[in-house]
Amino acid sequence: MSTPDLPLTQQQPVSLTGRDLHLSFGDNQVLRGVDIHVEAGTTTTVIGPSGSGKSTLLRVLNRLHEPQSGDILIDGRSVLRDNPDRLRRRIGMVFQQFNLFPHMSVLDNVALAPRKLRGLDSEQARALALRELGKVGLQAKAEVRPATLSGGQQQRVAIARALAMKPQIMFFDEATSALDPELVKGVLALMTELSQEGMTMVVVTHEMGYAREVSDSVLFMDHGRVIETGPPVQLFEAPATERLQNFLAEVL
Ligand SMILES: Nc1ncnc2c1ncn2[C@@H]1O[C@H](COP(=O)(O)OP(=O)(O)OP(=O)(O)O)[C@@H](O)[C@H]1O
Ligand SMILES: [Mg+2]
Repeated sequence: MSTPDLPLTQQQPVSLTGRDLHLSFGDNQVLRGVDIHVEAGTTTTVIGPSGSGKSTLLRVLNRLHEPQSGDILIDGRSVLRDNPDRLRRRIGMVFQQFNLFPHMSVLDNVALAPRKLRGLDSEQARALALRELGKVGLQAKAEVRPATLSGGQQQRVAIARALAMKPQIMFFDEATSALDPELVKGVLALMTELSQEGMTMVVVTHEMGYAREVSDSVLFMDHGRVIETGPPVQLFEAPATERLQNFLAEVL
């Protein structure tokens, strides 16, 4: 999938911790005291029914929503008093909808943030973008518009764009949910590769096969709470709660 001699990332792995995170929208308590700990260089997948708060958890962890209480730590140090933009630069995010700019070339999509936020000049940003696109196997598509690519290719561009910011942590929110089945594999392969290279990752997914095989830890959420967490064999082979048993019976 990617260029064999170029790793996707060379960042020093960091750990990520969320402690007793609470968030309400009006009367709707969406996070009711969530704890999550992702060891440096490991992958945690978050599973749970629709509306359980998975996307909100990611958005709180990078402070797109400020938690009403609780703490967020990277390598054991609270980041709640840091500039939120600085935190967001440390965390790359890939969504279900790729959110590429339609009027820009693939290359410009990847080069934009490094130029604006990391201060690279346009030549440096261009070279970096080409390198990142090469890693996801899409250097040849640098000059085209995103709309001319398949969904899987667009999602790989979105991953390259996130990696171009040299994040220490990557979040994926249903990154393969909008893709045709035959395109899912390529994106999951790239995510697996990144995980194996030791990127710290939090992955919200409906792909139970991926959760089972690739993650170091699985976290099952329901109604804004963590119901169970542990290694995938434990959660998938021996779910302790009826809620997880029922959820798995529905999705597997
Ligand atoms: N910006 C917002 N304003 C108000 N309510 C919100 C907002 N974002 C999420 N919610 C509410 O928070 C709850 C959890 O939503 P969230 O998107 O986190 O669920 P999810 O587990 O990601 O679901 P899905 O699997 O469908 O993506 C829902 O009740 C939703 O309506
Ligand atoms: Mg969601």
